[in-house]
Amino acid sequence: MNDDILVLSDVCKSYDGVSVLKHLFLKVKEGEFLTLLGASGCGKTTTLRIIAGLDSPDSGNVVLEGNDVCDLEPNQRDVNTVFQSYALFPHMDVEKNIGYPLKLKRVPRLEIAERVNEILKLVQLEGFNHRRVPNLSGGQKQRVALARALVSKPRILLLDEPLGALDLKLRRMMQIELKRLQKLLGLTFIYITHDQEEALNMSDRIAVMNNGVIEQIDASDVIYNKPRTSYVASFVGNANIIKGLVASVENDAAVVKFCEQTFLFSKPGLKAGEELHFALRTEHVILNAPDSKFHATVVEKSFRGSMLRIVLKTQCNQEIVSTNFGVDSKLKEGDKVLFSWKDENIVLVDHE
Ligand SMILES: Nc1ncnc2c1ncn2[C@@H]1O[C@H](COP(=O)(O)OP(=O)(O)OP(=O)(O)O)[C@@H](O)[C@H]1O
Ligand SMILES: [Mg+2]
Repeated sequence: MNDDILVLSDVCKSYDGVSVLKHLFLKVKEGEFLTLLGASGCGKTTTLRIIAGLDSPDSGNVVLEGNDVCDLEPNQRDVNTVFQSYALFPHMDVEKNIGYPLKLKRVPRLEIAERVNEILKLVQLEGFNHRRVPNLSGGQKQRVALARALVSKPRILLLDEPLGALDLKLRRMMQIELKRLQKLLGLTFIYITHDQEEALNMSDRIAVMNNGVIEQIDASDVIYNKPRTSYVASFVGNANIIKGLVASVENDAAVVKFCEQTFLFSKPGLKAGEELHFALRTEHVILNAPDSKFHATVVEKSFRGSMLRIVLKTQCNQEIVSTNFGVDSKLKEGDKVLFSWKDENIVLVDHE
């Protein structure tokens, strides 16, 4: 059965001759929490605006629940958006703000009042009906914006960095809140964030965008543990990119040369002379184990919160970062070390 609620296929968009979305494909499953993650300017908001109908694609299709919606106005699509800036009406009280979309749809007054109260309960703002918007805290404003987006019962909620303006503590609280609401209502969320930790915590799947395309879309743990490209590996979490050269191949294993040493990597189809890129998470760098064989020098040592970060420079002048939680090390700047990794922790990636 096809459980995709939304399908974008081959979507292209340019502004002033500059291509912003480049043949973008995206399938969103009904009821999932999908996050678009990517660097500033990679096209996340543009993608969301095209889904919402606030912008139209130059080419390609947007199919919502089996119907092409490209020619439909935003209010004809079963989709609502929450922005970072809240976009509340300052001259209206909370109740009027939330009820506004229903008023536009000419829902009877009594029903509006009922639905507003229901949704206020849901976002834990019971009794806030007549509070004025300027007198609300940031978190409360965000809840009102959320309530207003939810009150017309959209099939998909689009959220563009909705927690971006909140301080860290409130943000963590609202993350849990959003996730609770999404589960409770069984809604499909398409969520934009810069914050990779937020993405990893909240999402069922993450779509990593780079330069107008989606490089990888997978469950959070797969994105983290099995990145497909060097960009994904470096953007989500912290990874070293190891560049190796296949020296020889025997059966399905390659002998890979890296920094005057070699290591074995098993994969069918590799060829001698081929250049390979691997992602190695900083927490998977092992220092001075009995079988460590890559030579390096410590060039920097620092603590970031509870995390010890050691930067090495290899013989071939590459920086390798190693991180560890909660443990200090006798190593100091200038020390010679040997480093290594476990076979299962090195991931072959595509590299541009
Ligand atoms: N209306 C517009 N006119 C011209 N250029 C635009 C317009 N909207 C977006 N762009 C450009 O398109 C590119 C993608 O913008 P978009 O807002 O989608 O990025 P983003 O991934 O949401 O970035 P951020 O994380 O900073 O919000 C940017 O280079 C931006 O300057
Ligand atoms: Mg944006």
